[in-house]
Amino acid sequence: MRITIFGTGYVGLVTGTCLADAGHEVMCMDVDSAKIEGLKNGVVPIYEPGLETLVKQNVAEERLLFTTDPAEAVSFGTLQFIAVGTPPDEDGSADLKYVLSVADTIAEHMQEYKLVIDKSTVPVGTADRVSAAIAERLEARDVNIDYDVCSNPEFLKEGSAVEDFSQGARIVIGCDSPRVEPLMRECYAPYNRRQEKLMFMDIRSAELTKYAANAMLATKISFMNEVSNLAERLGADVENVRRGIGSDPRIGYSFIYPGCGYGGSCFPKDVQALARTANDVNYDAALLNAVEAVNDRQKASLFTKLSQALDGDLQGKTIAVWGLAFKPNTDDMREAPSRALMEAVWAAGGKVKAYDPEAMAECRRIYGERDDLELTKRRDETLEGADALVICTEWKAFRTVDFRRLREQLTTPAIIDGRNLFNPETVRAAGLLYFAVGRADSL
Ligand code: UGA
Repeated sequence: MRITIFGTGYVGLVTGTCLADAGHEVMCMDVDSAKIEGLKNGVVPIYEPGLETLVKQNVAEERLLFTTDPAEAVSFGTLQFIAVGTPPDEDGSADLKYVLSVADTIAEHMQEYKLVIDKSTVPVGTADRVSAAIAERLEARDVNIDYDVCSNPEFLKEGSAVEDFSQGARIVIGCDSPRVEPLMRECYAPYNRRQEKLMFMDIRSAELTKYAANAMLATKISFMNEVSNLAERLGADVENVRRGIGSDPRIGYSFIYPGCGYGGSCFPKDVQALARTANDVNYDAALLNAVEAVNDRQKASLFTKLSQALDGDLQGKTIAVWGLAFKPNTDDMREAPSRALMEAVWAAGGKVKAYDPEAMAECRRIYGERDDLELTKRRDETLEGADALVICTEWKAFRTVDFRRLREQLTTPAIIDGRNLFNPETVRAAGLLYFAVGRADSL
């Protein structure tokens, strides 16, 4: 099958590469010519385990093509995936300008039937807008060409995107035309062999499914963070509570890890966008607003604890920070708790010495060269001359620590652990102050 993908960001590049790897001929289109040139040579602009190898293999086998030419991209595939970004606009709604501009491009160049697929996370009702944009442009061209628009939301997680693509729990497709089902079945056939994963439904339900899934997961996390704040105040240990409630299969163990707040490009943006959508239809989404508020408070809690450990005086202090990415196995720092922490440290007159296995270049890109930010080559270099340590991301490399050595290195022997990596007794036995999340003496 010949498939075109618009947008070589996370979703577009993973989708295009995996579909090519499954045997389809795929052309990825992007307006960023430097990125496209790089991709043609196997240079993947994001860190995603397994992706670069797959890109290289499929480019070499000429199943994965890249272009900046919209006419070539439109004529290539019967299937036209829209996987461009939907950044939040000023009021938190998803900005659809890129999605609608791709719809316009498709309609401008199409000469025969096309199935247009919304892959980006877009608000309920977007497929109707994409369809209207195509109809309008075709009318302006004074041509009558058939097309369909369907919704096929993506459920990939950064850091395990390639694996998620082939082993995802479901493939949701929202459509309103009998032409869509056979085409989408053919597209996903390689991933639908062992069990039926395709779920066909109406378009608006498919669009809402994406937001509901992310909002539900974000709700689980904020709920658990709320419980952790209660545990700190009640002298309970949230790690015991987590095991206790997760063992009930109706609740389950996943996404109930308390921490320093959820980040990334999806949960914060999607919870906000769904709350905006609710607002647009005059519904007060009280739960969604609370999920976001709890998360903001949780992100701020790292600094609150740090400040407490240093008796409220950050002026001239150096804070070691382990982990900059919003989660392990990615270099993505969008909405990362580390950013809220570092910005608060700087605002209070402190300095940061940080290490992350993947996200240091990204950190430099965001904050540039500044006197109060040092990025070190090795994890333990952050500790030299540091007053306290804050852990923001649960990278595997942070789990093994010589606490006695660490005790000697830090001026104020305090660890603020936003990810509950250690046994509090072990840390405290080495003479360190230990502020974790929802555990005894962490307040
Ligand atoms: C999320 C969803 O998990 C994907 O299914 C979805 O496709 C994707 O958004 C998207 O909409 O594109 P992602 O943002 O890559 O994926 O990251 P997650 O692994 O879900 O983690 C999100 C945040 O929640 C991280 O900051 C993580 O630290 C936090 N988290 C996760 C917790 O604090 N506790 C948990 O128990 C789980």
